[in-house]
Amino acid sequence: MNNDMPIEFLTEAEEPTNELQEVEMNLLLEGLYQMYGYDFRGYVRASLRRRILNRMKAERLPTITALLEKVLHEQGYLERLLNDLSIRMTEMYRDPSFFAAFRNQVVPLLRDLPEIRIWHAGCATGEEVYSMAILMREEGLAKKTKIYATDMNEKALLAAQKGAFPLKKMQQYTKNYLKAGGKKAFSEYYTTDHQYAYFFPVLEENLFFAQHNLVTDGSFNEFHVILCRNVMIYFDNELQQQVHRLIYSSLADGGFVGFGSKESLLFVPKSLKYGEFITQERIYRKI
Ligand SMILES: C[S@@+](CC[C@H](N)C(=O)[O-])C[C@H]1O[C@@H](n2cnc3c(N)ncnc32)[C@H](O)[C@@H]1O
Repeated sequence: MNNDMPIEFLTEAEEPTNELQEVEMNLLLEGLYQMYGYDFRGYVRASLRRRILNRMKAERLPTITALLEKVLHEQGYLERLLNDLSIRMTEMYRDPSFFAAFRNQVVPLLRDLPEIRIWHAGCATGEEVYSMAILMREEGLAKKTKIYATDMNEKALLAAQKGAFPLKKMQQYTKNYLKAGGKKAFSEYYTTDHQYAYFFPVLEENLFFAQHNLVTDGSFNEFHVILCRNVMIYFDNELQQQVHRLIYSSLADGGFVGFGSKESLLFVPKSLKYGEFITQERIYRKI
């Protein structure tokens, strides 16, 4: 549809019922899955609906069905919708006390391993990953640490690989870094231009970025640490259980897992045995 053309929106009396909208949502999610393999069927509905309706409005489309039609038949729509459905809010040393606890209480237990494998599942644009790379370097463990950073969102991953973050955020990130127990001047890790802070490539030496979908892809290695923070919060109970199983099966015995500050073990299936490690920071240990 030509964006300049006037479009007739439904009057309130004609607005689809919630039931109809639910059917249309189901069809859209089914279409995304069957056609492109992206499975959002187990995501929390309210947040999905809000994002889909926003995209519909931005494209000046009258119904979710019209959006489905575009997504199936026109290039560019899928990418835009996927971008809407992946919430990438993140920051360096997000929840600094999490990283301080990790540094002080988890790192000493990793120190003697011959190789340390860490998986950031749902790494978004990489801020969490570079935070970890710096931390492990400061602990003298960079050489034997391999950090795997995955996300379903290709665009986010491309940004992550650049290791460049907006300069205007660096003041906040520096505060976070210091609160997280950072040992140097944070500015020693990057150069800047007027727009971005560019982290030094040496930090990327043992970083591996890959597209991976926690809903549809399987386990790809065994890790000593898995961080899956602020990802499952968007999943319904059943999907949380499924992803918890994937994480657990990817974790070495005695390995550590970290979740976001609003996440918990509530939906972990009983068969998965975690011990509380630093509960207030949502860090648990596989028994
Ligand atoms: C809010 S960000 C969290 C980033 C980072 N872990 C943090 O805590 O700051 C959530 C990320 O999860 C990713 N995500 C959502 N569903 C996913 C899935 N099924 N598989 C892999 N990544 C997913 C999104 O693309 C997004 O980048």
